[in-house]
Parts: sequence; C-alpha cells; structure tokens
Amino acid sequence: NPSKKDNNNMNTKIVIAHRGASGYLPEHTMEAKAMAYAMNPHFIEQDLVLSKDNVPIVIHDIYLDDVTDVATKFPGRKRKDNRFYVIDFTFTELQMLKVTERFNPETGEQFYPNRYPKGKGNFRLHSFEEEIELIQGLNKSTGKNIGIYPEIKDPAFHQKEGKKITEIVLKILSDYGYQTKKDNCILQCFDAKELERIRLELKSDLFLVQLMEFEEETKQLEHFATYADGIGPWYKQVLEKKVGGKWLFTTLVSDAHKLGLKVHPYTFRADSLDEFTTFDEMMETLLMEAGVDGAFTDYPDLVVNFLKEK
Ligand code: G3P
Ligand code: CA
Repeated sequence: NPSKKDNNNMNTKIVIAHRGASGYLPEHTMEAKAMAYAMNPHFIEQDLVLSKDNVPIVIHDIYLDDVTDVATKFPGRKRKDNRFYVIDFTFTELQMLKVTERFNPETGEQFYPNRYPKGKGNFRLHSFEEEIELIQGLNKSTGKNIGIYPEIKDPAFHQKEGKKITEIVLKILSDYGYQTKKDNCILQCFDAKELERIRLELKSDLFLVQLMEFEEETKQLEHFATYADGIGPWYKQVLEKKVGGKWLFTTLVSDAHKLGLKVHPYTFRADSLDEFTTFDEMMETLLMEAGVDGAFTDYPDLVVNFLKEK
C-alpha cells in the first residue's frame, strides 16, 4: 500500500493509474480518478493542457475532438486543420462539454470497443486544481497517501501560442505543497529541453521523469541523468525479442539503473496486449523479469493485486 514512510514510495515498485482507472471509465474524468483512488495505486496521473484563460485542464490531447461532444456544441470553433483546440476555449466553456470514451472523430468509432459505452453517462472536464483537491481530500479522509503524477503536454505548442504552461503548473504544485522530491509528486514530460529547463533554470527540486518514445533516445540516458530522476519509456523499448518462449531485454533498464534512474514504462493495458498472450505475462515479463520500477496502467486494480501477491 502507498506508505508515508518511504519517500515517494521509491523503494517499491509503483503503480501509476494512467489517466485514472481509464480501463473502466472515460479517461481523466473525476469519476475515473475516484475509482482509481479506491484501487490503491501509488500515484494518479494528470495530463495537462492550458485553457484560453490559462487554467490547466486535465486532458490528454491538445485537441477536444476525440473525447468530447465539442463538434456538436461549438461547431464553428474549429481551426483550419478541422480540429478543436483546448486552448481556444475558456474553462467555463470547457465545463459545458460532455466527456466520453475516446473515439475516432472521423468514423465515430470507439477506440477500445469493450470499455465504457461511448456517449453514456454525464462526465465533464475539470481543472488540475480540482483534481489535486480531490486527491488531497481523499488522502485526508482515508489516511492514505496517494501521490500525483502530472505531465506537461506539448510545451512547444503552448509556447508557440504564447502560453507559459510550465510556470503555471509549477506555481500550482508549489501552492498545494508539492515542492521537493519528498512531496509525493512526480513531474513528467516528453520534451527533454523543457524538463531540463525545469531542473536547471527553474530550479525545481521535484522528482522528474523524462518520457521517451523513440529508439534513438535510449542513447541519451547519460544526458537525461544530469537533470532527471527517472525515465518513462514506451514498454517496447525495454523488450528485445522472444527466444524459445523467453523474453530477452534491451539494456535500457540496466543502463538506467547504473545511472540511478528509475524506470516507469507505459502503458499496461489488459485489453491491448499486442506481443503478450495474457496481461499476467505482460506484468511478469516487465515488472519481474525486466525489473522495471513501476507501471503506468489503465487497470490499476490488476497491477496492484499482481504486486501484492509477489
Ligand atoms: O505519461 C506516461 C504515458 O501516459 C505517456 O503516454 O500518451 O498516454 O501521455 P501518454
Ligand atoms: Ca501521460
């Protein structure tokens, strides 16, 4: 269970509720976060994008099209590329939208067909502060100590639009008591220059995780270690190949560990297994055999139970 004694629970393998309990409820809704909380992960994730009036909104894309009814509520507000941008709407306007399971806006088809039915329920967008208050409130009422794991989405896009997302997020974190590595918060970003700036220029003492998605990034670990505390690779960057029924691994995990970096791969999805036959095989292979330090998962209950039995 998430513990108060272990700083950031960093001496155990951690479970990160990816977009909440997003295997069961529409991603990044308060309902998905409350459900995730009850499953006892160590951290709950928030992807962050700014609204027109500079409120960090908990949403995965800089677009609204794939998870809301924006096209029917505000049909005239799309840009030339046919997309609706979070940044073009005020927080009040964003609160009017209904959130649904992720779908393809061109075909209307639900992305994960066996998840919560698209269009059902009454889910809404919310701000980062509202989510922090939910988690801190639950920590108080339950006595648990579940952390937050925010991601600054597309800082280059925000900068191009004249928005200072990083400074705004850091200020909110500080106001809510997340200031050092001990404060049960891990800050993540795909943009290496921005994460480096957060450490070296903005002098943040938070636990920082460098997200990775490309093969060539595996050669930059030494540089990442100059400012980050961990890496968040795509899980496929850990796998080499399967030989005689056994997985062989790349050197990513051992290289990262030699540099003192924790490794939290994404995304453990029980309904999207690809090279694995069962979810148990995925968890056993990555968490036990490859020796990663945590998992971003849409199914926090399954990973929490798996680790409890080890
Ligand atoms: O942040 C870890 C993982 O969530 C990265 O992928 O695209 O789901 O934000 P994404
Ligand atoms: Ca993320």
